[in-house]
Amino acid sequence: MHHSITILTGAGISAESGISTFRDPGGIWTQYDIEDVATPEAFARNPALVHDFYNTRRDQVRSARPNAAHEALARLQKSYSAPVHIITQNVDDLHEKGGAVDVIHMHGSYQTALCAACGSRWPAPPAMRHDDPCPSCAAPATRPDVVWFGEMPYHMDQIDEILSTTSLFVSIGTSGAVYPAAGFHRLARAAGAATLELNLEPSEITAMFDEARHGPATQLVPAWVATLLAE
Ligand code: APR
Repeated sequence: MHHSITILTGAGISAESGISTFRDPGGIWTQYDIEDVATPEAFARNPALVHDFYNTRRDQVRSARPNAAHEALARLQKSYSAPVHIITQNVDDLHEKGGAVDVIHMHGSYQTALCAACGSRWPAPPAMRHDDPCPSCAAPATRPDVVWFGEMPYHMDQIDEILSTTSLFVSIGTSGAVYPAAGFHRLARAAGAATLELNLEPSEITAMFDEARHGPATQLVPAWVATLLAE
């Protein structure tokens, strides 16, 4: 019995829903250069190219369905006797489509547009363009609401608070290649939490976890949730 469970997910939890991961063979960063599409400098240099990249990925996500791993986490949130926090690095909405609530999107979301001039947000159109006028300030400064390399992830105060009080930290489908998410296990452990990695294969930080199980998320996650709910 834990007094709270904190789950961090990465692209691997959406892989079996047909959404490409970033660093696996054939992954997004083997097809695109981060410097061209996922930095503030890239956007300043060529906003149309950056919007094309995200419009394409938003399209891929629109038709994607949540898989058994997303649905199992939603079941855990609903039925577990203590709070279950889901922090995701993913910008897809498959956790929500699978029934999860209060998902913390630390890298933003494909579902919203952001005004680079005044900071207001609105539901993302299917195809976003830089000169779409902001509904609040009318500036033609529309950008994807995604945290680029070199930018601060969202909700970090809330995340620090959650990690400092959780009793079980579980990392699912992430390579542990990108900070600050790759350091969350250390914060949780410092607060006395047990740590578990559920991933297709050992991540860069597997050795830092108390326990690591390797295999597809659609097998590992439902089995792990079933054990917890049977306790
Ligand atoms: N089941 C479980 N894990 C899987 C599966 C699967 N079916 N398929 C792949 N994985 C694992 C891989 O083994 C890998 O460790 O998911 C991980 C995906 O790693 P990345 O592609 O690096 O994705 P992620 O960890 O989410 O990247 C972190 O980097 O590019 C930035 O902002 C972007 O949020 C992203 C961040």
